[in-house]
Amino acid sequence: NTEKLSSARFAEATDAFVEEFTASVSFDQRMAQQDIQGSLAHAAMLNKIGILTAQELADIQTGLAQIATEIQRGEFVWSIKQEDVHMNIEARLTDLIGIAGKKLHTGRSRNDQVATDIRLYLRAEIDLILVQLHRLQLALLNLAEQEAATIMPGFTHLQVAQPVTFGHHLMAWFEMLSRDKERLQDCRKRVNIMPLGAAALAGTSYPIDRFMTAELLGFTRPSSNSLDSVSDRDFAIEFTAAGSLLMVHLSRFSEELVLWASAQFNFIDIPDAFCTGSSIMPQKKNPDVPELVRGKAGRVTGHLMALLMLMKSQPLAYNKDNQEDKEPLFDTADTLINSLRAFADMLPNIRAKRENMYQSAKRGFATATDLADYLVRKGMAFRDAHEVVGQAVRLGLNTDRDLSELSLAELQGFAAAISADVFEVLSLEGSVAARKHIGGTAPDTVRQAIATARQNLAD
Ligand code: ARG
Repeated sequence: NTEKLSSARFAEATDAFVEEFTASVSFDQRMAQQDIQGSLAHAAMLNKIGILTAQELADIQTGLAQIATEIQRGEFVWSIKQEDVHMNIEARLTDLIGIAGKKLHTGRSRNDQVATDIRLYLRAEIDLILVQLHRLQLALLNLAEQEAATIMPGFTHLQVAQPVTFGHHLMAWFEMLSRDKERLQDCRKRVNIMPLGAAALAGTSYPIDRFMTAELLGFTRPSSNSLDSVSDRDFAIEFTAAGSLLMVHLSRFSEELVLWASAQFNFIDIPDAFCTGSSIMPQKKNPDVPELVRGKAGRVTGHLMALLMLMKSQPLAYNKDNQEDKEPLFDTADTLINSLRAFADMLPNIRAKRENMYQSAKRGFATATDLADYLVRKGMAFRDAHEVVGQAVRLGLNTDRDLSELSLAELQGFAAAISADVFEVLSLEGSVAARKHIGGTAPDTVRQAIATARQNLAD
């Protein structure tokens, strides 16, 4: 079938280049299964309200089932003459079953059809993303549990600040991902509303049963306004915004993995299977996976901007602009699934170099704040304590020693109130163990946080 769509209206054929330029079938054929699913529900509803006979419905069902198989097997012949996925499938259906195929589009427009397909597609993609997100969260919990008592330097300004546990650091990533998950789940609620029935823009004069189609397609309810239903793509923007935030989180995570895997930090080992070599430098082992994920954050954020600008200033109702929503949306979903999957696969194989982390915390005067807090407990005002500890750090720097390596007599030279129990607070272990309030870095607190998180994840 190569006839021009609504050819009767036109006196001349479409310009060959325009045909190519306006066709979307090269990319929207990804929604073929959703398109068929939507048509099956629409046909069942048309039968219920008496527009299709039982035989016509049966023919449509048989024809669409065959088309689904042809597509799955890669045997379906897509044609840009038929412009998009919807017209391609409808044309093939009519080829296969004749007149009943021509009745399928009764009370429907491609405008509500495409909006329905996208929502069905996106709903399924969100579910796939959530599966990978869940895997990554589990991997984080497992690694955090293993490293609950591993001491590393915590940073501000990328300078050693205070000791933390590696488990605690990993749980920070877990928290970010938990919020990303909530955002996606929330977005899914608004995706799962059914536009079908809005027709081109004004609804239809047939006595359609939108609750029936909504139920058949697993939508929560039919949409409330036909103009809005066919024209807004805010659900796609919302998804891409949530996806951008998720990718931004992964980019921060990536950045740390890249830094930690460097010889200069040397905190972790990323397994060979997730790295590549260099074509010129034989010694290189490059952390490609986190680098690539870091880069892909830019790509997804770009898609968000594209969709926002696509929607901006569009008059009601449907405009062809909206055909441009699909590629950014599909690529966002692909990128999220693949990035999360790569991280979920990689994380269980990351090995913490505990001794290096420990030594790095030790070299950075990470317990200076603990010493100041100790002096406060001995009665000194915090600002004075801050000053005194600064002097002790200077002595440490000049003599290449950590605070815990200064003698009691040296420390007492800075503040008479210091006694032998000071070495407890100067130790990295003492420092982290003291932070045992909710949200703190103490190993037992971290284990508690992991247990709670595991519980929440299972619910
Ligand atoms: N291919 C179109 C899209 O992706 C389907 C809807 C076309 N509707 C129309 N009136 N041209 O948006």
